[in-house]
Amino acid sequence: MNIGIIGGTGKEGVGLAVRWARAGHRVLLGSRDAARAKAKADELRAAGHGVVEGGDNEWAARGAEVAVLAVPYSAHEATLRGLGDALAGRILVDITVPLQPPRVTVVQLPPGKAAALEAQAIVGPATRVVAALHHVSAAHLADPAHVIDCDVLVCGDDEPARAAVIGLIGDLGLRGIDAGALANAVALESLVPVLIHLNKRTRSAGTGIRITGIPGR
Ligand SMILES: NC(=O)c1ccc[n+]([C@@H]2O[C@H](COP(=O)([O-])OP(=O)(O)OC[C@H]3O[C@@H](n4cnc5c(N)ncnc54)[C@H](OP(=O)(O)O)[C@@H]3O)[C@@H](O)[C@H]2O)c1
Repeated sequence: MNIGIIGGTGKEGVGLAVRWARAGHRVLLGSRDAARAKAKADELRAAGHGVVEGGDNEWAARGAEVAVLAVPYSAHEATLRGLGDALAGRILVDITVPLQPPRVTVVQLPPGKAAALEAQAIVGPATRVVAALHHVSAAHLADPAHVIDCDVLVCGDDEPARAAVIGLIGDLGLRGIDAGALANAVALESLVPVLIHLNKRTRSAGTGIRITGIPGR
């Protein structure tokens, strides 16, 4: 599958790109600066990670069947508005946690209650927004051989889109779990400040979550 990563030069974006490329997907790394994304993609290809190409964010969105939004919350709205219709017809995986530094260990709901709900309102119904991956730390993604001890809750209003994203999460080596409607992104995003608090308290590189009690899994 063609996977575009908007803000793909960052910590989380590069970790996802490496794992998806190694699983056989074609990854389009996006950036505000096409040259920066091309340089990073060249580096990842040279390291043997698979098919990774670089360009600007709009190019990454247009070339993708599934686009991933991986920019800081402070850039969330402006980035989406700047993409015009490039996301129309695509699934958009919003991994954004609406952190408002410096208070990153305390839940602070954004105006639209969740970044993913805000994203859906901005891009409109032609794009199916799915929220996922908030609880997977870039520190764990960095080494593609590292087995990550974390489940991934996936929510969105379109069931086939949720199923497609759960499949892609499996390709990362993680268990994706259908977490229902996009409104549930409020709960997913809100758990992250709690995990950051736990990271600080326990000096962890990245605490995660596990869902228990699912029959057969
Ligand atoms: N880091 C984690 O462990 C983690 C875990 C789960 C979810 N997340 C979420 O994933 C997203 C990305 O996190 P990250 O740690 O990868 O972030 P990051 O490294 O700080 O930034 C990611 C990319 O966003 C772009 N960017 C930065 N400022 C921007 C701006 N003002 N306007 C437009 N683009 C901008 C940059 O790309 P260019 O300069 O190349 O354009 C940058 O490489 C965040 O929303 C975060 O909440 C992160």
